Amino acid sequence: MRKNIGILISGRGSNMASLIAACSDIDFPAKAAVVISNRPDAAGLDFASKAGIATLALNHRDYEEREDFDAVIDAALEEHNVDIVCLAGFMRLLTPGFVDKWRDRLINIHPSLLPAYPGVNIHDRVLDDGVRITGCTVHFVRAEMDAGPIIAQAAVPVLSTDTVEALSARVLNAEHRVYPLALKLVAEGRARVASERVLIDYDELEPAAMFVPAL
Ligand code: GRF
Repeated sequence: MRKNIGILISGRGSNMASLIAACSDIDFPAKAAVVISNRPDAAGLDFASKAGIATLALNHRDYEEREDFDAVIDAALEEHNVDIVCLAGFMRLLTPGFVDKWRDRLINIHPSLLPAYPGVNIHDRVLDDGVRITGCTVHFVRAEMDAGPIIAQAAVPVLSTDTVEALSARVLNAEHRVYPLALKLVAEGRARVASERVLIDYDELEPAAMFVPAL
């Protein structure tokens, strides 16, 4: 039985698009049930509705309490029988109550090799530090920002000629590959949390780590 996913976005939605593309394959273990944005002008909403997926455009400013806003999201996810929630550039911290309810069914993508570089302006900081390898991480969400058991990571080289734009484009390309892979592992029940680490149950060589070359 394919799992229903709900995708939460705030903007462009390119990771959302990569998940929708993966889900369009009938053999993929998940299908896109609903896309929800906390910004009514998010470009990704248009893409999702053109792909025939239910969308919900909210404005978090309409809600005085974070709990009220999260309750509306939760109700929409339930209405669409969502099994797994994917954050894809969703720029709001979710309340501990929401995170607890969806524990180990709520995943996020972050453009660094966590636990290195949580937060924002990641690529600036990576370039300033002169590190040679960066990447992206898909993880189960916990109440603290950019924390939680790691499902999959992709490593990406940093070139000495890189600008923030060039590096972020290279990492984004890796994000688009690793997010569907991580979702597949979760949807197939192959990514199990034990003692706050993810055990990947797989017969072949473990597929949760990849290297995306510069060229
Ligand atoms: C991505 O870099 C993602 O890792 C981060 O926010 C960005 C969202 O981009 N959480 P998009 O909206 O998926 O294009």
